[in-house]
Amino acid sequence: MDKYIVKGKANIKGTVSVNGAKNAGLPILAATLLAEGKYEITNVPNLTDIRTMAKLLNNIGAEIEWGDGKIKIKTNGCKNHEAPYELVKTMRASIYVLGPLVARKGEARVSFPGGCALGARPIDLHLKGLRKLGANIELKHGYIYATANRLKGTGIYFEKKSVGATANILMASVLAEGETKIQNAACEPEIAALAEFLVRMGADIKGIGTETLIIKGKEKLHSADASLIPDRIETGTLLLSAAITRGSITVEDCNPDHLGIVLDKLEEAGFQISTTENSISLNSKGPKHPIEITTNPYPGFPTDLQPQFCSLLSTIEGDSSILETIFSDRFIYTTELQRLGANLKLNENELIIKGGAKLSGAPVMASDIRAGASLVVASLYAEGKTEISRIYHLDRGHDKLEEKLQKLGADIKRVK
Ligand code: EPZ
Repeated sequence: MDKYIVKGKANIKGTVSVNGAKNAGLPILAATLLAEGKYEITNVPNLTDIRTMAKLLNNIGAEIEWGDGKIKIKTNGCKNHEAPYELVKTMRASIYVLGPLVARKGEARVSFPGGCALGARPIDLHLKGLRKLGANIELKHGYIYATANRLKGTGIYFEKKSVGATANILMASVLAEGETKIQNAACEPEIAALAEFLVRMGADIKGIGTETLIIKGKEKLHSADASLIPDRIETGTLLLSAAITRGSITVEDCNPDHLGIVLDKLEEAGFQISTTENSISLNSKGPKHPIEITTNPYPGFPTDLQPQFCSLLSTIEGDSSILETIFSDRFIYTTELQRLGANLKLNENELIIKGGAKLSGAPVMASDIRAGASLVVASLYAEGKTEISRIYHLDRGHDKLEEKLQKLGADIKRVK
């Protein structure tokens, strides 16, 4: 298993370009199951999760051809309608093939999802939505069996915002008979990107980007191309890597509009931010301040950036706090950060960060993508050598992160 060896203190300085978004690519790849034909998806990051989704599509019968940063898909030969355990257990987002398969094939057999260990990761909202659209859902032997003649459009209200359930139901509804109205839909940019891709495939979707989506089902859709939106979470992680070392950075090929609240919080903490249409620059001049963060569904503060932000706040004098409202168990990373010297106190889902810590290098272990990222961010500030193991978690969501950071002046190596 690979690990990172990081020598702090780094001084991150320079310009870096960000990948396409994993969390936009996964549903868009699944959506190709909705219509036969040829697709070309570009700005695709080389990530384990993207490769897993491609394997899933291939297992269902799609032909996949990888290029540099692009994937060509041909879905004419999709006979199978199964997402097997050995693939699904490594990636929760495999559940995204459920909606398209039921809508297009009238049946699907998907293993119960695994994925990041962020506490209970139910899929009740996915299944409830599909049942409302008329699918028959059975759960047995660890698999979800879904069948339907033709799904029928209806009103669906999500009692809580769910990115995955919104994506699954949106993909199921575009081939359903009649109109579907989804209320309390997730508004993440990745959902808007999926909806825009479906419209290019011939779907009729109104309200894109809002929490109310109106879909008029179609008999058939056709293939289309897509270029993935920039990864807002990798963008935030790179900004925080510079901020923690009190350095400066320009992240290019990103979309500042997708990071509104995150940039506000960096400014509140005392960092200088400037943006253009597709870049964000940060410098660390001036006094730093502790801040309070509460995670929320988009456009609120993204839960996927709170671990990395915690690393930064542990180095800023004063008491900061992070209130996590999305996942029941998203503070697993704190025990590893404490090994580096962070002074943290967890009360239920509120983390109190006693800032001003002098971090020092130590062997630590990644437990999920963003927990791993928080350790990388902290290791850039920690005095001496930090060894981060289980970085296969990081490879699920970051494409050559160490090369990006080396370019910015970090002393970080990947060792077998
Ligand atoms: C997506 O996960 C992302 N993953 C996550 O990113 C992200 O943290 C999360 O959205 C929140 O923004 C992908 O896009 C592949 P949810 P998802 O459904 O869809 C509960 C990363 O590191 N819930 O929005 O699984 C759920 O338990 C990953 O890239 C139900 O109760 O998240 C959670 O508390 C980590 N029932 C809340 O809703 C359901 O049926 C939000 O989950 C579904 C979800």
